[in-house]
Amino acid sequence: SIVDFSTIMPSVPYILKGILTTLKFVVVSILLGFVLGTVLSLFKISKVRVLRWGADAYTSIFRGTPLILQLLIIYNATPQLTGYKIEPFLAGVLTFGLNSAAYVSEIIRAGINGVDKGQREASMALGVSYGSMMRQIILPQALKNILPALMNEFITLTKESAIIAVIGTTDIMRRAQIVGADTYRYFEPLITAGIIYYVMVMALTVLGRMLERRMSRGD
Ligand code: ARG
Repeated sequence: SIVDFSTIMPSVPYILKGILTTLKFVVVSILLGFVLGTVLSLFKISKVRVLRWGADAYTSIFRGTPLILQLLIIYNATPQLTGYKIEPFLAGVLTFGLNSAAYVSEIIRAGINGVDKGQREASMALGVSYGSMMRQIILPQALKNILPALMNEFITLTKESAIIAVIGTTDIMRRAQIVGADTYRYFEPLITAGIIYYVMVMALTVLGRMLERRMSRGD
């Protein structure tokens, strides 16, 4: 028959194994993006002009070009420049981390700007150093306000991570394609992959709501 899930049932565990690869990939990428994005956001609000300019240019470039282009430059073109081959997973994590930092820096910058000016003024009046003020007063409040936006970024990366299939990382997407090529049936493995991604996104959505509720308890 046209659609027959029983034929790919034996391959479902193989596709499910990709969840671990995809999860690991997204978690490492989001952490890298968050750290880099935080640094970039501080550059963006800095008094030093070159730092502001550099961080803005960075965001402009990473947001202004396709993610898959960035991935292929890092995976395929870097060896030409450096002479070193780069592992698909590492190339992917680097690309997604660098790309996500561009978006996250904007989110955090907005979050910092959203913290009441009085907090900054009071810190300065009390002689709190810039570093302590940022780490202990401004950033914690900013993070609380931008949590939904950060969870959104997490979800975006989870879905976009499917493009690492093109460089051979055996994530959910790649495994679905392999099963399709092996069985000459693409519909069933692709729908299976789709269900897996959907469940992951729903899980992240629920997790985000729980975190939000917990963090707003202090208000
Ligand atoms: N589809 C977009 C692109 O190809 C994805 C950009 C990544 N988005 C993000 N929030 N990190 O450019």
